[in-house]
Amino acid sequence: MPYLKAMIKETFRLYPPVPLLVARETMLKSILQGYEIQPKTINVSPWAIARDPEIWENPEKFIPERFLNSSIDFKGQDHELLPFGAGWRGCPGIAFGAATVNLILSNLLYAFDWELPCGMKKEDVDTDVLPGITMHKKNHLCLLPKNYL
Ligand code: HEM
Repeated sequence: MPYLKAMIKETFRLYPPVPLLVARETMLKSILQGYEIQPKTINVSPWAIARDPEIWENPEKFIPERFLNSSIDFKGQDHELLPFGAGWRGCPGIAFGAATVNLILSNLLYAFDWELPCGMKKEDVDTDVLPGITMHKKNHLCLLPKNYL
């Protein structure tokens, strides 16, 4: 289970379902860590934060192990991982959403062995996504469930 949770965090990091958070607006011109911020210009992108090499080592690589001995969580306190946003407008469905992902995924993995369709190699599986308010896979993921329960 710790590895499954780390894998879910890593998936949320690289493929946040909401790649651009609900827009925030600064009311006044302000300076933040040396950057001049004009009014009404703030947009936070968890997708971009996940790809920042100053924050993550090998940011583009899918490495669940990075979360195994780490306290970083997606509850809105660690601003490098914001799949549910943070603050007053953070997702109120976070507990429901996270529990649903954990339950569905763990049951699917427990109940079935998964294989690629005939003739398909693991290198053929892509992680391309479509742009949008919420993120979707560009191409369907086709897998064969083998029931062993
Ligand atoms: C994996 C599941 C989910 C993810 C990744 C997700 C992600 C998000 C994100 C990123 C935001 C914007 C937060 C911000 O800008 O700081 C948001 C807002 C919101 N989410 Fe979710 N969400 C999920 C599930 C749910 C569920 C299950 C519910 C309701 C039962 C829900 C209800 C809402 C509502 C009402 C808002 C708007 C909050 C506001 O604007 O004040 N979400 N969600």
